[in-house]
Amino acid sequence: MIRPLFIGRKMSDSRAIGVFDSGVGGLTVVHEMLSRLPHENIVYFGDTARVPYGSKSANVVRKFALQDARFLTQQDVKLLVVACHTVSSTAMSVLQDHFELPILGVVEPGVVAGLKATRNKRVGVIGTRGTIGSGTYQKKISDQQSDVSLFAQACPLFVPLAEEGWLHNEVARQTSEIYLEPLKKENIDTLILGCTHYPLLKPLLKEVMGPDVRLIDSAEETAIAVAGKLEEGNMANPKTQPGSHQFYVSDTPDRFIEIGETFLNRSLGEVQRVDIDAF
Ligand code: DGL
Repeated sequence: MIRPLFIGRKMSDSRAIGVFDSGVGGLTVVHEMLSRLPHENIVYFGDTARVPYGSKSANVVRKFALQDARFLTQQDVKLLVVACHTVSSTAMSVLQDHFELPILGVVEPGVVAGLKATRNKRVGVIGTRGTIGSGTYQKKISDQQSDVSLFAQACPLFVPLAEEGWLHNEVARQTSEIYLEPLKKENIDTLILGCTHYPLLKPLLKEVMGPDVRLIDSAEETAIAVAGKLEEGNMANPKTQPGSHQFYVSDTPDRFIEIGETFLNRSLGEVQRVDIDAF
């Protein structure tokens, strides 16, 4: 089939952007998308029945990711945002092999920003055990800039702390000090927050790391990358009214709504349950 060429003509696409995560954490990415892309429609799926992904094997995460993406592609989305670092570091190529639409993850934008920010070429990354164990950050950094040293640390307790709203108490402080001590000893000047929940702990992590360490918020960087992708592909929503936002989960929505509304700082509206095993 010969596709028509629209030379010089601005195209656009009012379909929604699909965003998924293992649960509520991807809402930190949605939060940034809402402020940068207020006219875009968003369909979000949080796999609350099977969270956490960060402690599961790569094969299980890949299988879950395919089901999550299948659900969203059936909602006719124009772009898929993998708002989960564990999935982005283990399943991007599987997703790209299975689906034709453009797919953006949260790892690459953080890596690019981290490499841009470092002066002394000593970068740290923190994430779930799955993310850190996958070696994806290590590989991407050495592929893109082999003279940069990366120091990685899994911080699994940060996820429950953020969900509990313990963002600045003594338990959170001591946990941060213990996890971050090895990175401080390595004299890093840049720290990539490689997990959906960590932007919520930013003020505390900044205090613990000190003023000379730049924190890279992957949620912010991903929203910037999404905006760039829409622009580059002429895919932005042409409508000027605020976008609509639909939220789906795989378990009863109560706790998702409770935590999600604190993450997003706004009401989620109706949250619907999906039988993800059917996808
Ligand atoms: N969303 C996950 C991530 O960014 C954290 C929560 C989980 O372990 O599922 O890696």
